[in-house]
Amino acid sequence: MEFLTLNNGIQIPQLGIGTYRLNDPDISEQAVLEALRDGYRLVDTAEIYHNERYIGSALRECGLPRESLFVTTKIWPAHYRGDRPRRALEHSLKRLGSDYVDLLLLHQYFGDWKNAWKQLERMQEEGLARSIGVCNFYTVRSIAEFDSFAHVAPAVDQVECHPLIQHGALQHYLEGVGIRLMAWYPLGHGNTLLLEQPVLMELSRQYRKSVPQIILRWHIQKGHIVIPKSTNPRHIKADINVFNFTLTEEEMKMIDGLNMGRSLLRRWEHLEKIKYCILR
Ligand SMILES: NC(=O)c1ccc[n+]([C@@H]2O[C@H](COP(=O)([O-])OP(=O)(O)OC[C@H]3O[C@@H](n4cnc5c(N)ncnc54)[C@H](OP(=O)(O)O)[C@@H]3O)[C@@H](O)[C@H]2O)c1
Repeated sequence: MEFLTLNNGIQIPQLGIGTYRLNDPDISEQAVLEALRDGYRLVDTAEIYHNERYIGSALRECGLPRESLFVTTKIWPAHYRGDRPRRALEHSLKRLGSDYVDLLLLHQYFGDWKNAWKQLERMQEEGLARSIGVCNFYTVRSIAEFDSFAHVAPAVDQVECHPLIQHGALQHYLEGVGIRLMAWYPLGHGNTLLLEQPVLMELSRQYRKSVPQIILRWHIQKGHIVIPKSTNPRHIKADINVFNFTLTEEEMKMIDGLNMGRSLLRRWEHLEKIKYCILR
């Protein structure tokens, strides 16, 4: 496992397990336990995934010291106003069975996110969150807004990122200001439009690695933090086995060339997300 240093000096594993739509108690707990046994130390969840309780069970069950684990959760926009962010985190911590999280993120660029950010700054000061950051801030302008009111800059921006959507301008800006890009949908949510790209299939053949391993290796070499999700023990094991080969500069460029600014978030999921932001 490789580690990156965040802008507050904290070390983060560069690869972890994602848990979106993992909400069956047994399947969620088993997938996270399997990952921890295989050497994963970062687990990415969110209050809106409704699985923090099962992840908490896996974190206790695994027998690893809490300090060796890196737990990320997120606050949903319904909890951005007043002192709701604090209450939301308290509930998350109870479900996770922990006194703190390693990274606390605002889940969407929406509503009174500036109030929520100020609360996150306080919670970080109090040690409830070791690092704080955001998700789904896609424009340079949205990230630059922190300059006008925040005391603490986000440690990460978690955005949809894979070879078909690379956010060149955002990535360049984040690098310049020391904010790490954390890639969600790192494998394009398993969509064949990505997994069957001939360039990736050819590299897979050459390196005797699966296409997902080639994609994850590309992310690692780009400096992204990645959180692939899987419930399949073979895939979980394979997805972390990406630190023993290196793509050449030319191969990296070939994968860069796949960028088409194409989100693989399905339309109904996008509408569901908007509906939840407004109604919940
Ligand atoms: N902040 C946000 O707004 C946001 C939004 C979405 C997601 N996320 C986070 O990002 C994480 C990752 O996103 P995701 O789970 O949707 O998509 P993903 O990791 O890009 O793709 C997951 C899909 O890839 C398959 N897969 C994984 N490893 C594989 C392998 N080695 N071979 C073949 N197939 C493989 C999985 O199927 P199997 O289970 O069969 O292996 C699953 O269908 C989420 O779990 C969540 O933690 C954050």
